[in-house]
Amino acid sequence: MNKFVITGGKKLKGTIRVNGAKNDALVIFAASLLTTQPVTVDNIPDIEDIKKLFKLMEKLGCKIERTGTSKYKIKTTQLNSHLIDSDIAKKIRASILLTAPLLGRFGRVRFPHPGGCVIGERPIDQFLDGYKSMGAKIRIRGNLYEITASRLKGAEFVFNNITVTGTESLIMAATLAKGRTMLKNCACEPEVKSLAGFLNSCGAKIVGAGTPYITIYGVDKLKGGVHRVISDRVEAGSFVILAVATNSDITIKNCEPGHLDALLSSLRKAGANFSVGKNSIEVRPSRLNSINIKTHEYPGFPTDLQAPFCVLLTQSKGSGLVHETIYEGRLTWTEDLKRMGADIHIYDPHRIEIKGPTKLRGREAESPDIRAGMAYLIAALCAKGKSTINNVYQIDRGYEKIEERLRKIGADIRRV
Ligand code: EPZ
Repeated sequence: MNKFVITGGKKLKGTIRVNGAKNDALVIFAASLLTTQPVTVDNIPDIEDIKKLFKLMEKLGCKIERTGTSKYKIKTTQLNSHLIDSDIAKKIRASILLTAPLLGRFGRVRFPHPGGCVIGERPIDQFLDGYKSMGAKIRIRGNLYEITASRLKGAEFVFNNITVTGTESLIMAATLAKGRTMLKNCACEPEVKSLAGFLNSCGAKIVGAGTPYITIYGVDKLKGGVHRVISDRVEAGSFVILAVATNSDITIKNCEPGHLDALLSSLRKAGANFSVGKNSIEVRPSRLNSINIKTHEYPGFPTDLQAPFCVLLTQSKGSGLVHETIYEGRLTWTEDLKRMGADIHIYDPHRIEIKGPTKLRGREAESPDIRAGMAYLIAALCAKGKSTINNVYQIDRGYEKIEERLRKIGADIRRV
């Protein structure tokens, strides 16, 4: 199993480019199953979760051809199965994104409860209730769900909990359904808007994506299309936090600052020194004061940047309360950060308090999921001495060749 060996305590310097968004690429690939015509997708990051989704889709009969550095062509004419492979599906939450298109194409789908980052219970009741409201039948066979519907019907559905993949799945389900669907209390993330833009370019009729109210007028079929995946706002945010926490001079390029409002306003409040360009953010050294953060659905403070921001708070003066509102298991990773010397008090599964600044010491840590893995990497770069991060597969799931890109800005990091 790969690991990173990092010697920290150095200021970094230079420019780092942001890749295409994992969470946009995953849903666009799934959506390509809604048409029998070819789909070309560009700006795809070379990361583990994408490779896993490719394997799932190829097992269903898809042909996926690489036609450029980050460009792929998908052909679904030979799609021949509605059974999603359990072994792979249990490794990525995004496997759930295949259920709506398969239901639309075959009128049936069989799948296991999706896996992925262990950051909370991550139920799928909203997906199942949504499909049921559109006339689908749900059965549980052993540890597989089986959903059937000759053709889904338009419906009105209100999400009890805001879920990005849930919103994306009901948009895809409604796209080929009979009649009009109205979705309420939807996720407003940029990836949801990007999905609707892609589907509309293929002939769908979706209105209101990016707001809590989305209306879809079902169509009989879609044509093929071409899509460029949006820049990864979570990767961009991780790099900005890395730059500020290590007190470095770094320019983050090829990003969409407008997708990072909540993070940038928090950093301004903490006294960070940075300037924002059209598609870039320039970070300069600064003295930080602690602030409180509370994660929230978009456009609020992203839960995927909570872990990296906790490390930044260990380097800030004063005490900061971190309130994780989305997941009940996304703060447990801080135990190892405490062992690196951080002053953290855990109040309950959703709240911790971090006092700083503290001198972090290099040590061994196990990355439990993508974002906590990135947080350990940032902590190791802040820390004095050597750190070893195990199970870097988790980091590779969301960040392409991270050690090579960080070495280019002066980080002492190697993969062993
Ligand atoms: C998406 O997950 C992202 N993944 C996650 O990013 C991100 O953390 C999350 O949105 C929140 O922003 C992708 O887009 C592939 P959820 P999603 O598990 O939509 C509750 C990363 O690091 N809920 O649906 O799958 C649930 O308990 C990953 O890139 C229900 O109650 O998020 C949670 O509180 C990690 N019932 C909230 O909704 C349901 O049926 C969101 O959870 C579904 C969800």
